[in-house]
Amino acid sequence: MELNRRVAASDASLTGDKADFQNNFKVTPWEVEGDIDYRRLMAQFGTLPITSEIIEKIKKVTGEVHPMLKSQFFFSHRDLDWILNKYDEGEGFYLYTGRGPSGMVHIGHAMPWLFTKYIQEKFDSKLLFQLTDDEKFLQNQDRSKKEIEHYVQENVLDIIAIGFDPDKTKIIVDSRDIGHLYPLAIEIARRITFSTAKSVFGFSNSTNIGMIGFPPLQAAPCFLPSLMEGRPTPVLVPAAIDQDPYWRVTRDIAERLGYYKPAQIHSKFLPGLQKLGKMSSSKPETALLTTDEPEIISKKVSTAFTGGQATISLQRMLGGNPLGCPVFWYLRYLFDTEKESDERLLKCKSGNLLCGECKSDLSKDAQTFLVEFKRRREKARDRADKFTFKGAF
Ligand code: TRP
Repeated sequence: MELNRRVAASDASLTGDKADFQNNFKVTPWEVEGDIDYRRLMAQFGTLPITSEIIEKIKKVTGEVHPMLKSQFFFSHRDLDWILNKYDEGEGFYLYTGRGPSGMVHIGHAMPWLFTKYIQEKFDSKLLFQLTDDEKFLQNQDRSKKEIEHYVQENVLDIIAIGFDPDKTKIIVDSRDIGHLYPLAIEIARRITFSTAKSVFGFSNSTNIGMIGFPPLQAAPCFLPSLMEGRPTPVLVPAAIDQDPYWRVTRDIAERLGYYKPAQIHSKFLPGLQKLGKMSSSKPETALLTTDEPEIISKKVSTAFTGGQATISLQRMLGGNPLGCPVFWYLRYLFDTEKESDERLLKCKSGNLLCGECKSDLSKDAQTFLVEFKRRREKARDRADKFTFKGAF
């Protein structure tokens, strides 16, 4: 049984709940559905777009504009300008991101992590990576502890395979590292009322109380760096926008606890291969897993949904709809250069490109990427110890 998200209209004060009434999409930390209008989502969540001024500021440090910023895969933020100013003034920042270990990792999960690694490298940042095995256990009555433990171990391999610096990256597993999180979690929990939690997360009378008590544990790593460094320390959280409710409640109470509000940079979702919507590893045909064999990748891509017409002659005559095509977006976000992608868009629209060609490009690129990723994933098996969190770097 998934968390019951149906709440009274009066409870839908802040967030995704509104989406139920006004839009044909829904974005919460536990459910992403429908055709997401990211502009509207920003308005509802109260986040800001990443402006060209901010991109210029980042470029001053990185020397170039990362493709995921160029393509607006990362599109929204809170206090990104503030944290860049802090960096300018010589106050470095920590990165914090995470994963709920409820399945195998797919290429959509890996995208924000690849970006996080890039930021780590360019800004010389330490990173806390949280695995919320508790959240995934509490969220769904059908998942066993054993199953989640299995995914913790598998997901750790993916995280290491991203290439994070082992001297600057620690993986927190909630149930294992609870002793480090708990002192902070109770400080946080004491300052969040049930009324706030209900309206932000949509909890209802049928929600189990474990879920209701969970948010402080995801908030805790936002403040852990301040404890580790012994002074208030800026933290930047790169994550998909569905996690934003957590950061809203965390930001609300940060200053009362004597910490900086955590800053965020939000990504969109990589669409599922079968239609637009989030890629999901619980529906394996919609996702390219990091453990998929090349033949499986080619099969999944060849049966993908596209923005193409029903027949070749119609496609030649009317052109396709690249903006509604997952194959186009995979190529744009992950593999095409900006120029290649712009050309692909025009050629598709004018009927000069057939879906088979795009699928074959994606299949080749994804195979090359994933074969290499898998090799690194295997090598990660005897490196996991290096990333264990011990409360300090
Ligand atoms: N709740 C997230 C999930 O279900 C996992 C998570 C924990 C996370 N801490 C995070 C995600 C920080 C992004 C950033 O996937």
